[in-house]
Amino acid sequence: MREVSTGRVVIVGAGLGALYAALKLAPRPVLMISPEVLGQGASSAWAQGGVAAAMDPADSPAAHARDTLIAGAGTVDPEVAHRVTQEARAHILDLTTLGTPFDRRPDGGYVMSREAAHSFARVVRVRGDQAGAEIMRVLVACVRETPSVQVLEGVIATGLSVENGAVTGVDVALSGPQGSAPLRILAPAVLLAGGGSGGLYALTTNPSRIRGQVIGMAARAGAEIADAEFVQFHPTAIDCGEDPAPLATEALRGEGAHLINRLGERFMPAIHPDAELAPRDVVARAIYAQTQAGLRPMLDTRACLGPRLLTDFPAVAEACARAGIDPTREPIPVAAAAHYHMGGVAVDDDGRASLDRLWVCGEASSTGLHGANRLASNGLLEALVFARRCALSIEAQPVPVQDEPQVLLPDLPPDTVPDPALVARLRRAMTEGAGVLRDAGGLARCLREIAAIEAAQPDCPALLNMTATATLIAAAALMRQESRGAHCRTDFPQTMAEGRRSRLTLAQALALR
Ligand code: SIN
Repeated sequence: MREVSTGRVVIVGAGLGALYAALKLAPRPVLMISPEVLGQGASSAWAQGGVAAAMDPADSPAAHARDTLIAGAGTVDPEVAHRVTQEARAHILDLTTLGTPFDRRPDGGYVMSREAAHSFARVVRVRGDQAGAEIMRVLVACVRETPSVQVLEGVIATGLSVENGAVTGVDVALSGPQGSAPLRILAPAVLLAGGGSGGLYALTTNPSRIRGQVIGMAARAGAEIADAEFVQFHPTAIDCGEDPAPLATEALRGEGAHLINRLGERFMPAIHPDAELAPRDVVARAIYAQTQAGLRPMLDTRACLGPRLLTDFPAVAEACARAGIDPTREPIPVAAAAHYHMGGVAVDDDGRASLDRLWVCGEASSTGLHGANRLASNGLLEALVFARRCALSIEAQPVPVQDEPQVLLPDLPPDTVPDPALVARLRRAMTEGAGVLRDAGGLARCLREIAAIEAAQPDCPALLNMTATATLIAAAALMRQESRGAHCRTDFPQTMAEGRRSRLTLAQALALR
């Protein structure tokens, strides 16, 4: 394999964690690997709700931490929850200083949305449902103006090189339809911030490139993976045939939107005292049950918002218009869709993985904040907090040459890309075997199917990264013989008294296949 060497810190990914870490590392030279034009194709830009932070004097980080612990169903690390929620306010103020136009009240305070399982309206927002897009727009502009950051656009990472338990570099390839032969970039430190795994499922709210590649790459290099079985399904993806499915933000239910079925029945009050604002896993399972029963669940915003939806939730309004739905006159059809992976590369308080010289932040990591069920809008918050910590921790490493030249990509000939038919098969297998409801038989079948898919194109690293993460999810789900949060085993419906996090290497997961 061809090699180039750099003294730059390599950041894999181009979402919120990647951008924020690059800014926090400045002026240390950074090389960002972005599959698309910077800022495009990252899940962060699609986040509608916002960032959870106790900004109101009547609210508190302690209350935010408590809600995080309860939603996480006994597997959140309390220390992590307390520290992250304490830091939330400082990050909102930092994003504000950088230029994020958060919605403000006439008295200057932040407008707060209410989302499920929060005891307080504590989600800062931008123009209703534009938080992710706006924060990303601001950070992309800042990164573009930061001379220490070099961005390689149209490039994907396909693997990590490891020597004596330490990561020494990243294998990259061109991300176009032809792919390219790999190039190894040797670097003093690698930060993975390339998103989660939603696209491993047939129905997802994640951008189409987000298919567990980064977690898989770390696992294939030998890093430990935590809580892989905990995949969050969002209850209200708009069910309009689009792939990925557009989101109808939970903030709509915070505004009073009801979930009804084709018979006009509002079904959530009979399931949970908090009805539509019950924890996300509860609502997702209820939606899934309605869909399976042919009852066509829908989100009805007519009474609570009416035409206000068009101005206050422009992303939802636009998705509805594309699908020919008029939400001011009819309810929006919805389905449960893979949305967020609570599991990921196991990291410590500084974002360090179990391999030396490897850091991970954002959805690709598992910090202990989310447990079995992430509290709404804690995802962007975690990315901010841990991106900064990763940057501080990397900064404490020996300093490379400050005047690091830019990395020049040599000409790379075309090479294998994942066969789309195999990717579609993988997504079906995960949906059927490791989806909203799971059991031992379905998970075992899923693991066998993943092995068969892998065997059909064993020389394609991008596919192997996806099948590695799929294997970890299904194997961890098979090993967890209980139901907890988003992990629901129909053959083990009870929740054990003691909640514990799972930790698995790829080798251990493969032994179950
Ligand atoms: C939403 O806006 O419903 C999603 C927010 C989140 O996933 O945190």
